[in-house]
Amino acid sequence: MVAKLNQTFRELFGDNPSLLVRSPGRINIIGEHTDYNDGFVLPAAIDKAVYLGISLRTDDEIHLHAGDFNESFSIKIAELKPVARMSWPNYMLGSAAQFVKRGIKLQGFNAVLLSDVPIGAGMSSSAAVECATVFALNTLLNANLDRLTMVKMAQKAEHEYAGVMCGIMDQFASMMGKKDHVIKLDCRSLEYEYVPFNLSGLKVVLFNTNVKHSLASSEYNTRRKECETAVEWVSAFVPEVNSLRDVTEEMLDKYVLPKDKLIDKRSRFVVQEIKRLLDGCNDLQHGNLQALGRKMFETHDGLSTMYSVSCKELDFLVDHVRNNDAVIGARMMGGGFGGCTVNLVNEESVNQLVEELQPAYESTMNLPLTHYVASIENGTEIMQG
Ligand code: GLA
Repeated sequence: MVAKLNQTFRELFGDNPSLLVRSPGRINIIGEHTDYNDGFVLPAAIDKAVYLGISLRTDDEIHLHAGDFNESFSIKIAELKPVARMSWPNYMLGSAAQFVKRGIKLQGFNAVLLSDVPIGAGMSSSAAVECATVFALNTLLNANLDRLTMVKMAQKAEHEYAGVMCGIMDQFASMMGKKDHVIKLDCRSLEYEYVPFNLSGLKVVLFNTNVKHSLASSEYNTRRKECETAVEWVSAFVPEVNSLRDVTEEMLDKYVLPKDKLIDKRSRFVVQEIKRLLDGCNDLQHGNLQALGRKMFETHDGLSTMYSVSCKELDFLVDHVRNNDAVIGARMMGGGFGGCTVNLVNEESVNQLVEELQPAYESTMNLPLTHYVASIENGTEIMQG
């Protein structure tokens, strides 16, 4: 990847990049749609990553190239704004724009991007691009920003240039990941703890549905609003409630269920999921992976029937492994409406599982099934320069 990136950079810009950064995709073990509700999440950075080669220019032009699409895009700093006809430049431009917004003098730059994070698979390829860009510019501009500030800038890039009002999980995991650990992140205080992820004979296997339904970003923003509505209704009676983190199921029984069944279902999922994560994390810390795995199935059921962010392809993949003793936990991962399931699978059964699942999925859904065995790696880092 590094050699290929250097070569593409030389072909386009005449020299090697002065800096080459790697920023990973992420998995999330449990705690879905909890980040923007001030809850907890349990993500980790993985071995699939984006690679960004970058050099500053002496003028105010930004020249970008995405090696995977063989597409280029250029713009002047003074004209920075979201691009309508392509999506990938927005993650980089949105990240660069954060420097301008903070009053940090941005210079023109040349950049080449390569990635092996599958796109639309729910592994946060966009967050990885944002983190790589913010991290690289911070280094080259000597801006001295700390990692947490960079995480927040990367999240803002997604809000402002991609229009998805995402929580902080993806950018946090990409930037802050630590090899062989999951991150227990409190999305309210942003306090975090690295929890050793000892899988003793298990592997993390991702099955990619290879669909991304177009609903994904609009429904995501709708879910956020539904959660906010529940908080408004509860806080009218319990003023100390600021987010679903502060809400109990009893409060929902009293103040939300009588008003609206749909809002109740959505918010009840989140309230349950925040608790499930804390219990699941406890399971992990006590080495009880079976109990954690059972909670992953519960999370899937909640995401599918209460939060309504699953789809038939994801449900198929989870239902097919539910009674398989080699799979101790499985669920859809990320925002939903396609992407991957995350599975904890006995090491020696991975091949057999793939051999069973693939033809079943492909013949029913008429779509390819791909899979990845993920290893947990460090967050954003310099590879060269
Ligand atoms: C997407 C968002 C995250 C998070 C997940 C759902 O990945 O970017 O912030 O909300 O969905 O848990």
